[in-house]
Amino acid sequence: MKTLCLYYTRTNTTKEVIETIAQTIGADVAQYTDGKSRKGFPGYVGACFATVNNTISKVSIKGEFDPAAYDRVIIGMPVWVEGPCAIGKALIKKYSEKMPAEVYYVVTHMGAKSDYMDKIKAMDSLLGRPSSGQVSIRTKENDYIKESISFAETLKD
Ligand SMILES: Cc1cc2nc3c(=O)[nH]c(=O)nc-3n(C[C@H](O)[C@H](O)[C@H](O)COP(=O)(O)O)c2cc1C
Repeated sequence: MKTLCLYYTRTNTTKEVIETIAQTIGADVAQYTDGKSRKGFPGYVGACFATVNNTISKVSIKGEFDPAAYDRVIIGMPVWVEGPCAIGKALIKKYSEKMPAEVYYVVTHMGAKSDYMDKIKAMDSLLGRPSSGQVSIRTKENDYIKESISFAETLKD
């Protein structure tokens, strides 16, 4: 099954998770972005502001990757302010009609307080149909690479 794994990352954790999944199942990997750097403390504050005010205006996939050319797309996104990041949501909305039948969400988050599953599943309203699967991976004090591999194993043909 031809699979495209997409990720947004600010501090490389979601990149690491998605690259691990892609390597495990043998998939292409591409980054998506809103074009803003969001590095350091000013970037963190900007990310909070963009989430709360919903000000992500544009998002694109880097490189020549067309989701419609794949059988399956896996979308990696970090949690920002108690839910999947605004850039990931903007990506799903923008590319919903180009997404293949199978779409999976992989969400990384730091805290143990919540797995954010309700908000992750709610992204189906942006996709316009039910996603095929969702996983929420805690990155702090947790072997998130092992968890990424375990999830990827469930996707093997
Ligand atoms: C603006 C912002 C808000 C965040 N809010 C939360 C949160 O509400 N809950 C949580 O568990 N982690 C939160 N995090 C932590 C990230 O979700 C977590 O560190 C993630 O794995 C980072 O992925 P990245 O390195 O790919 O950017 C937040 C991070 C940022 C930058």
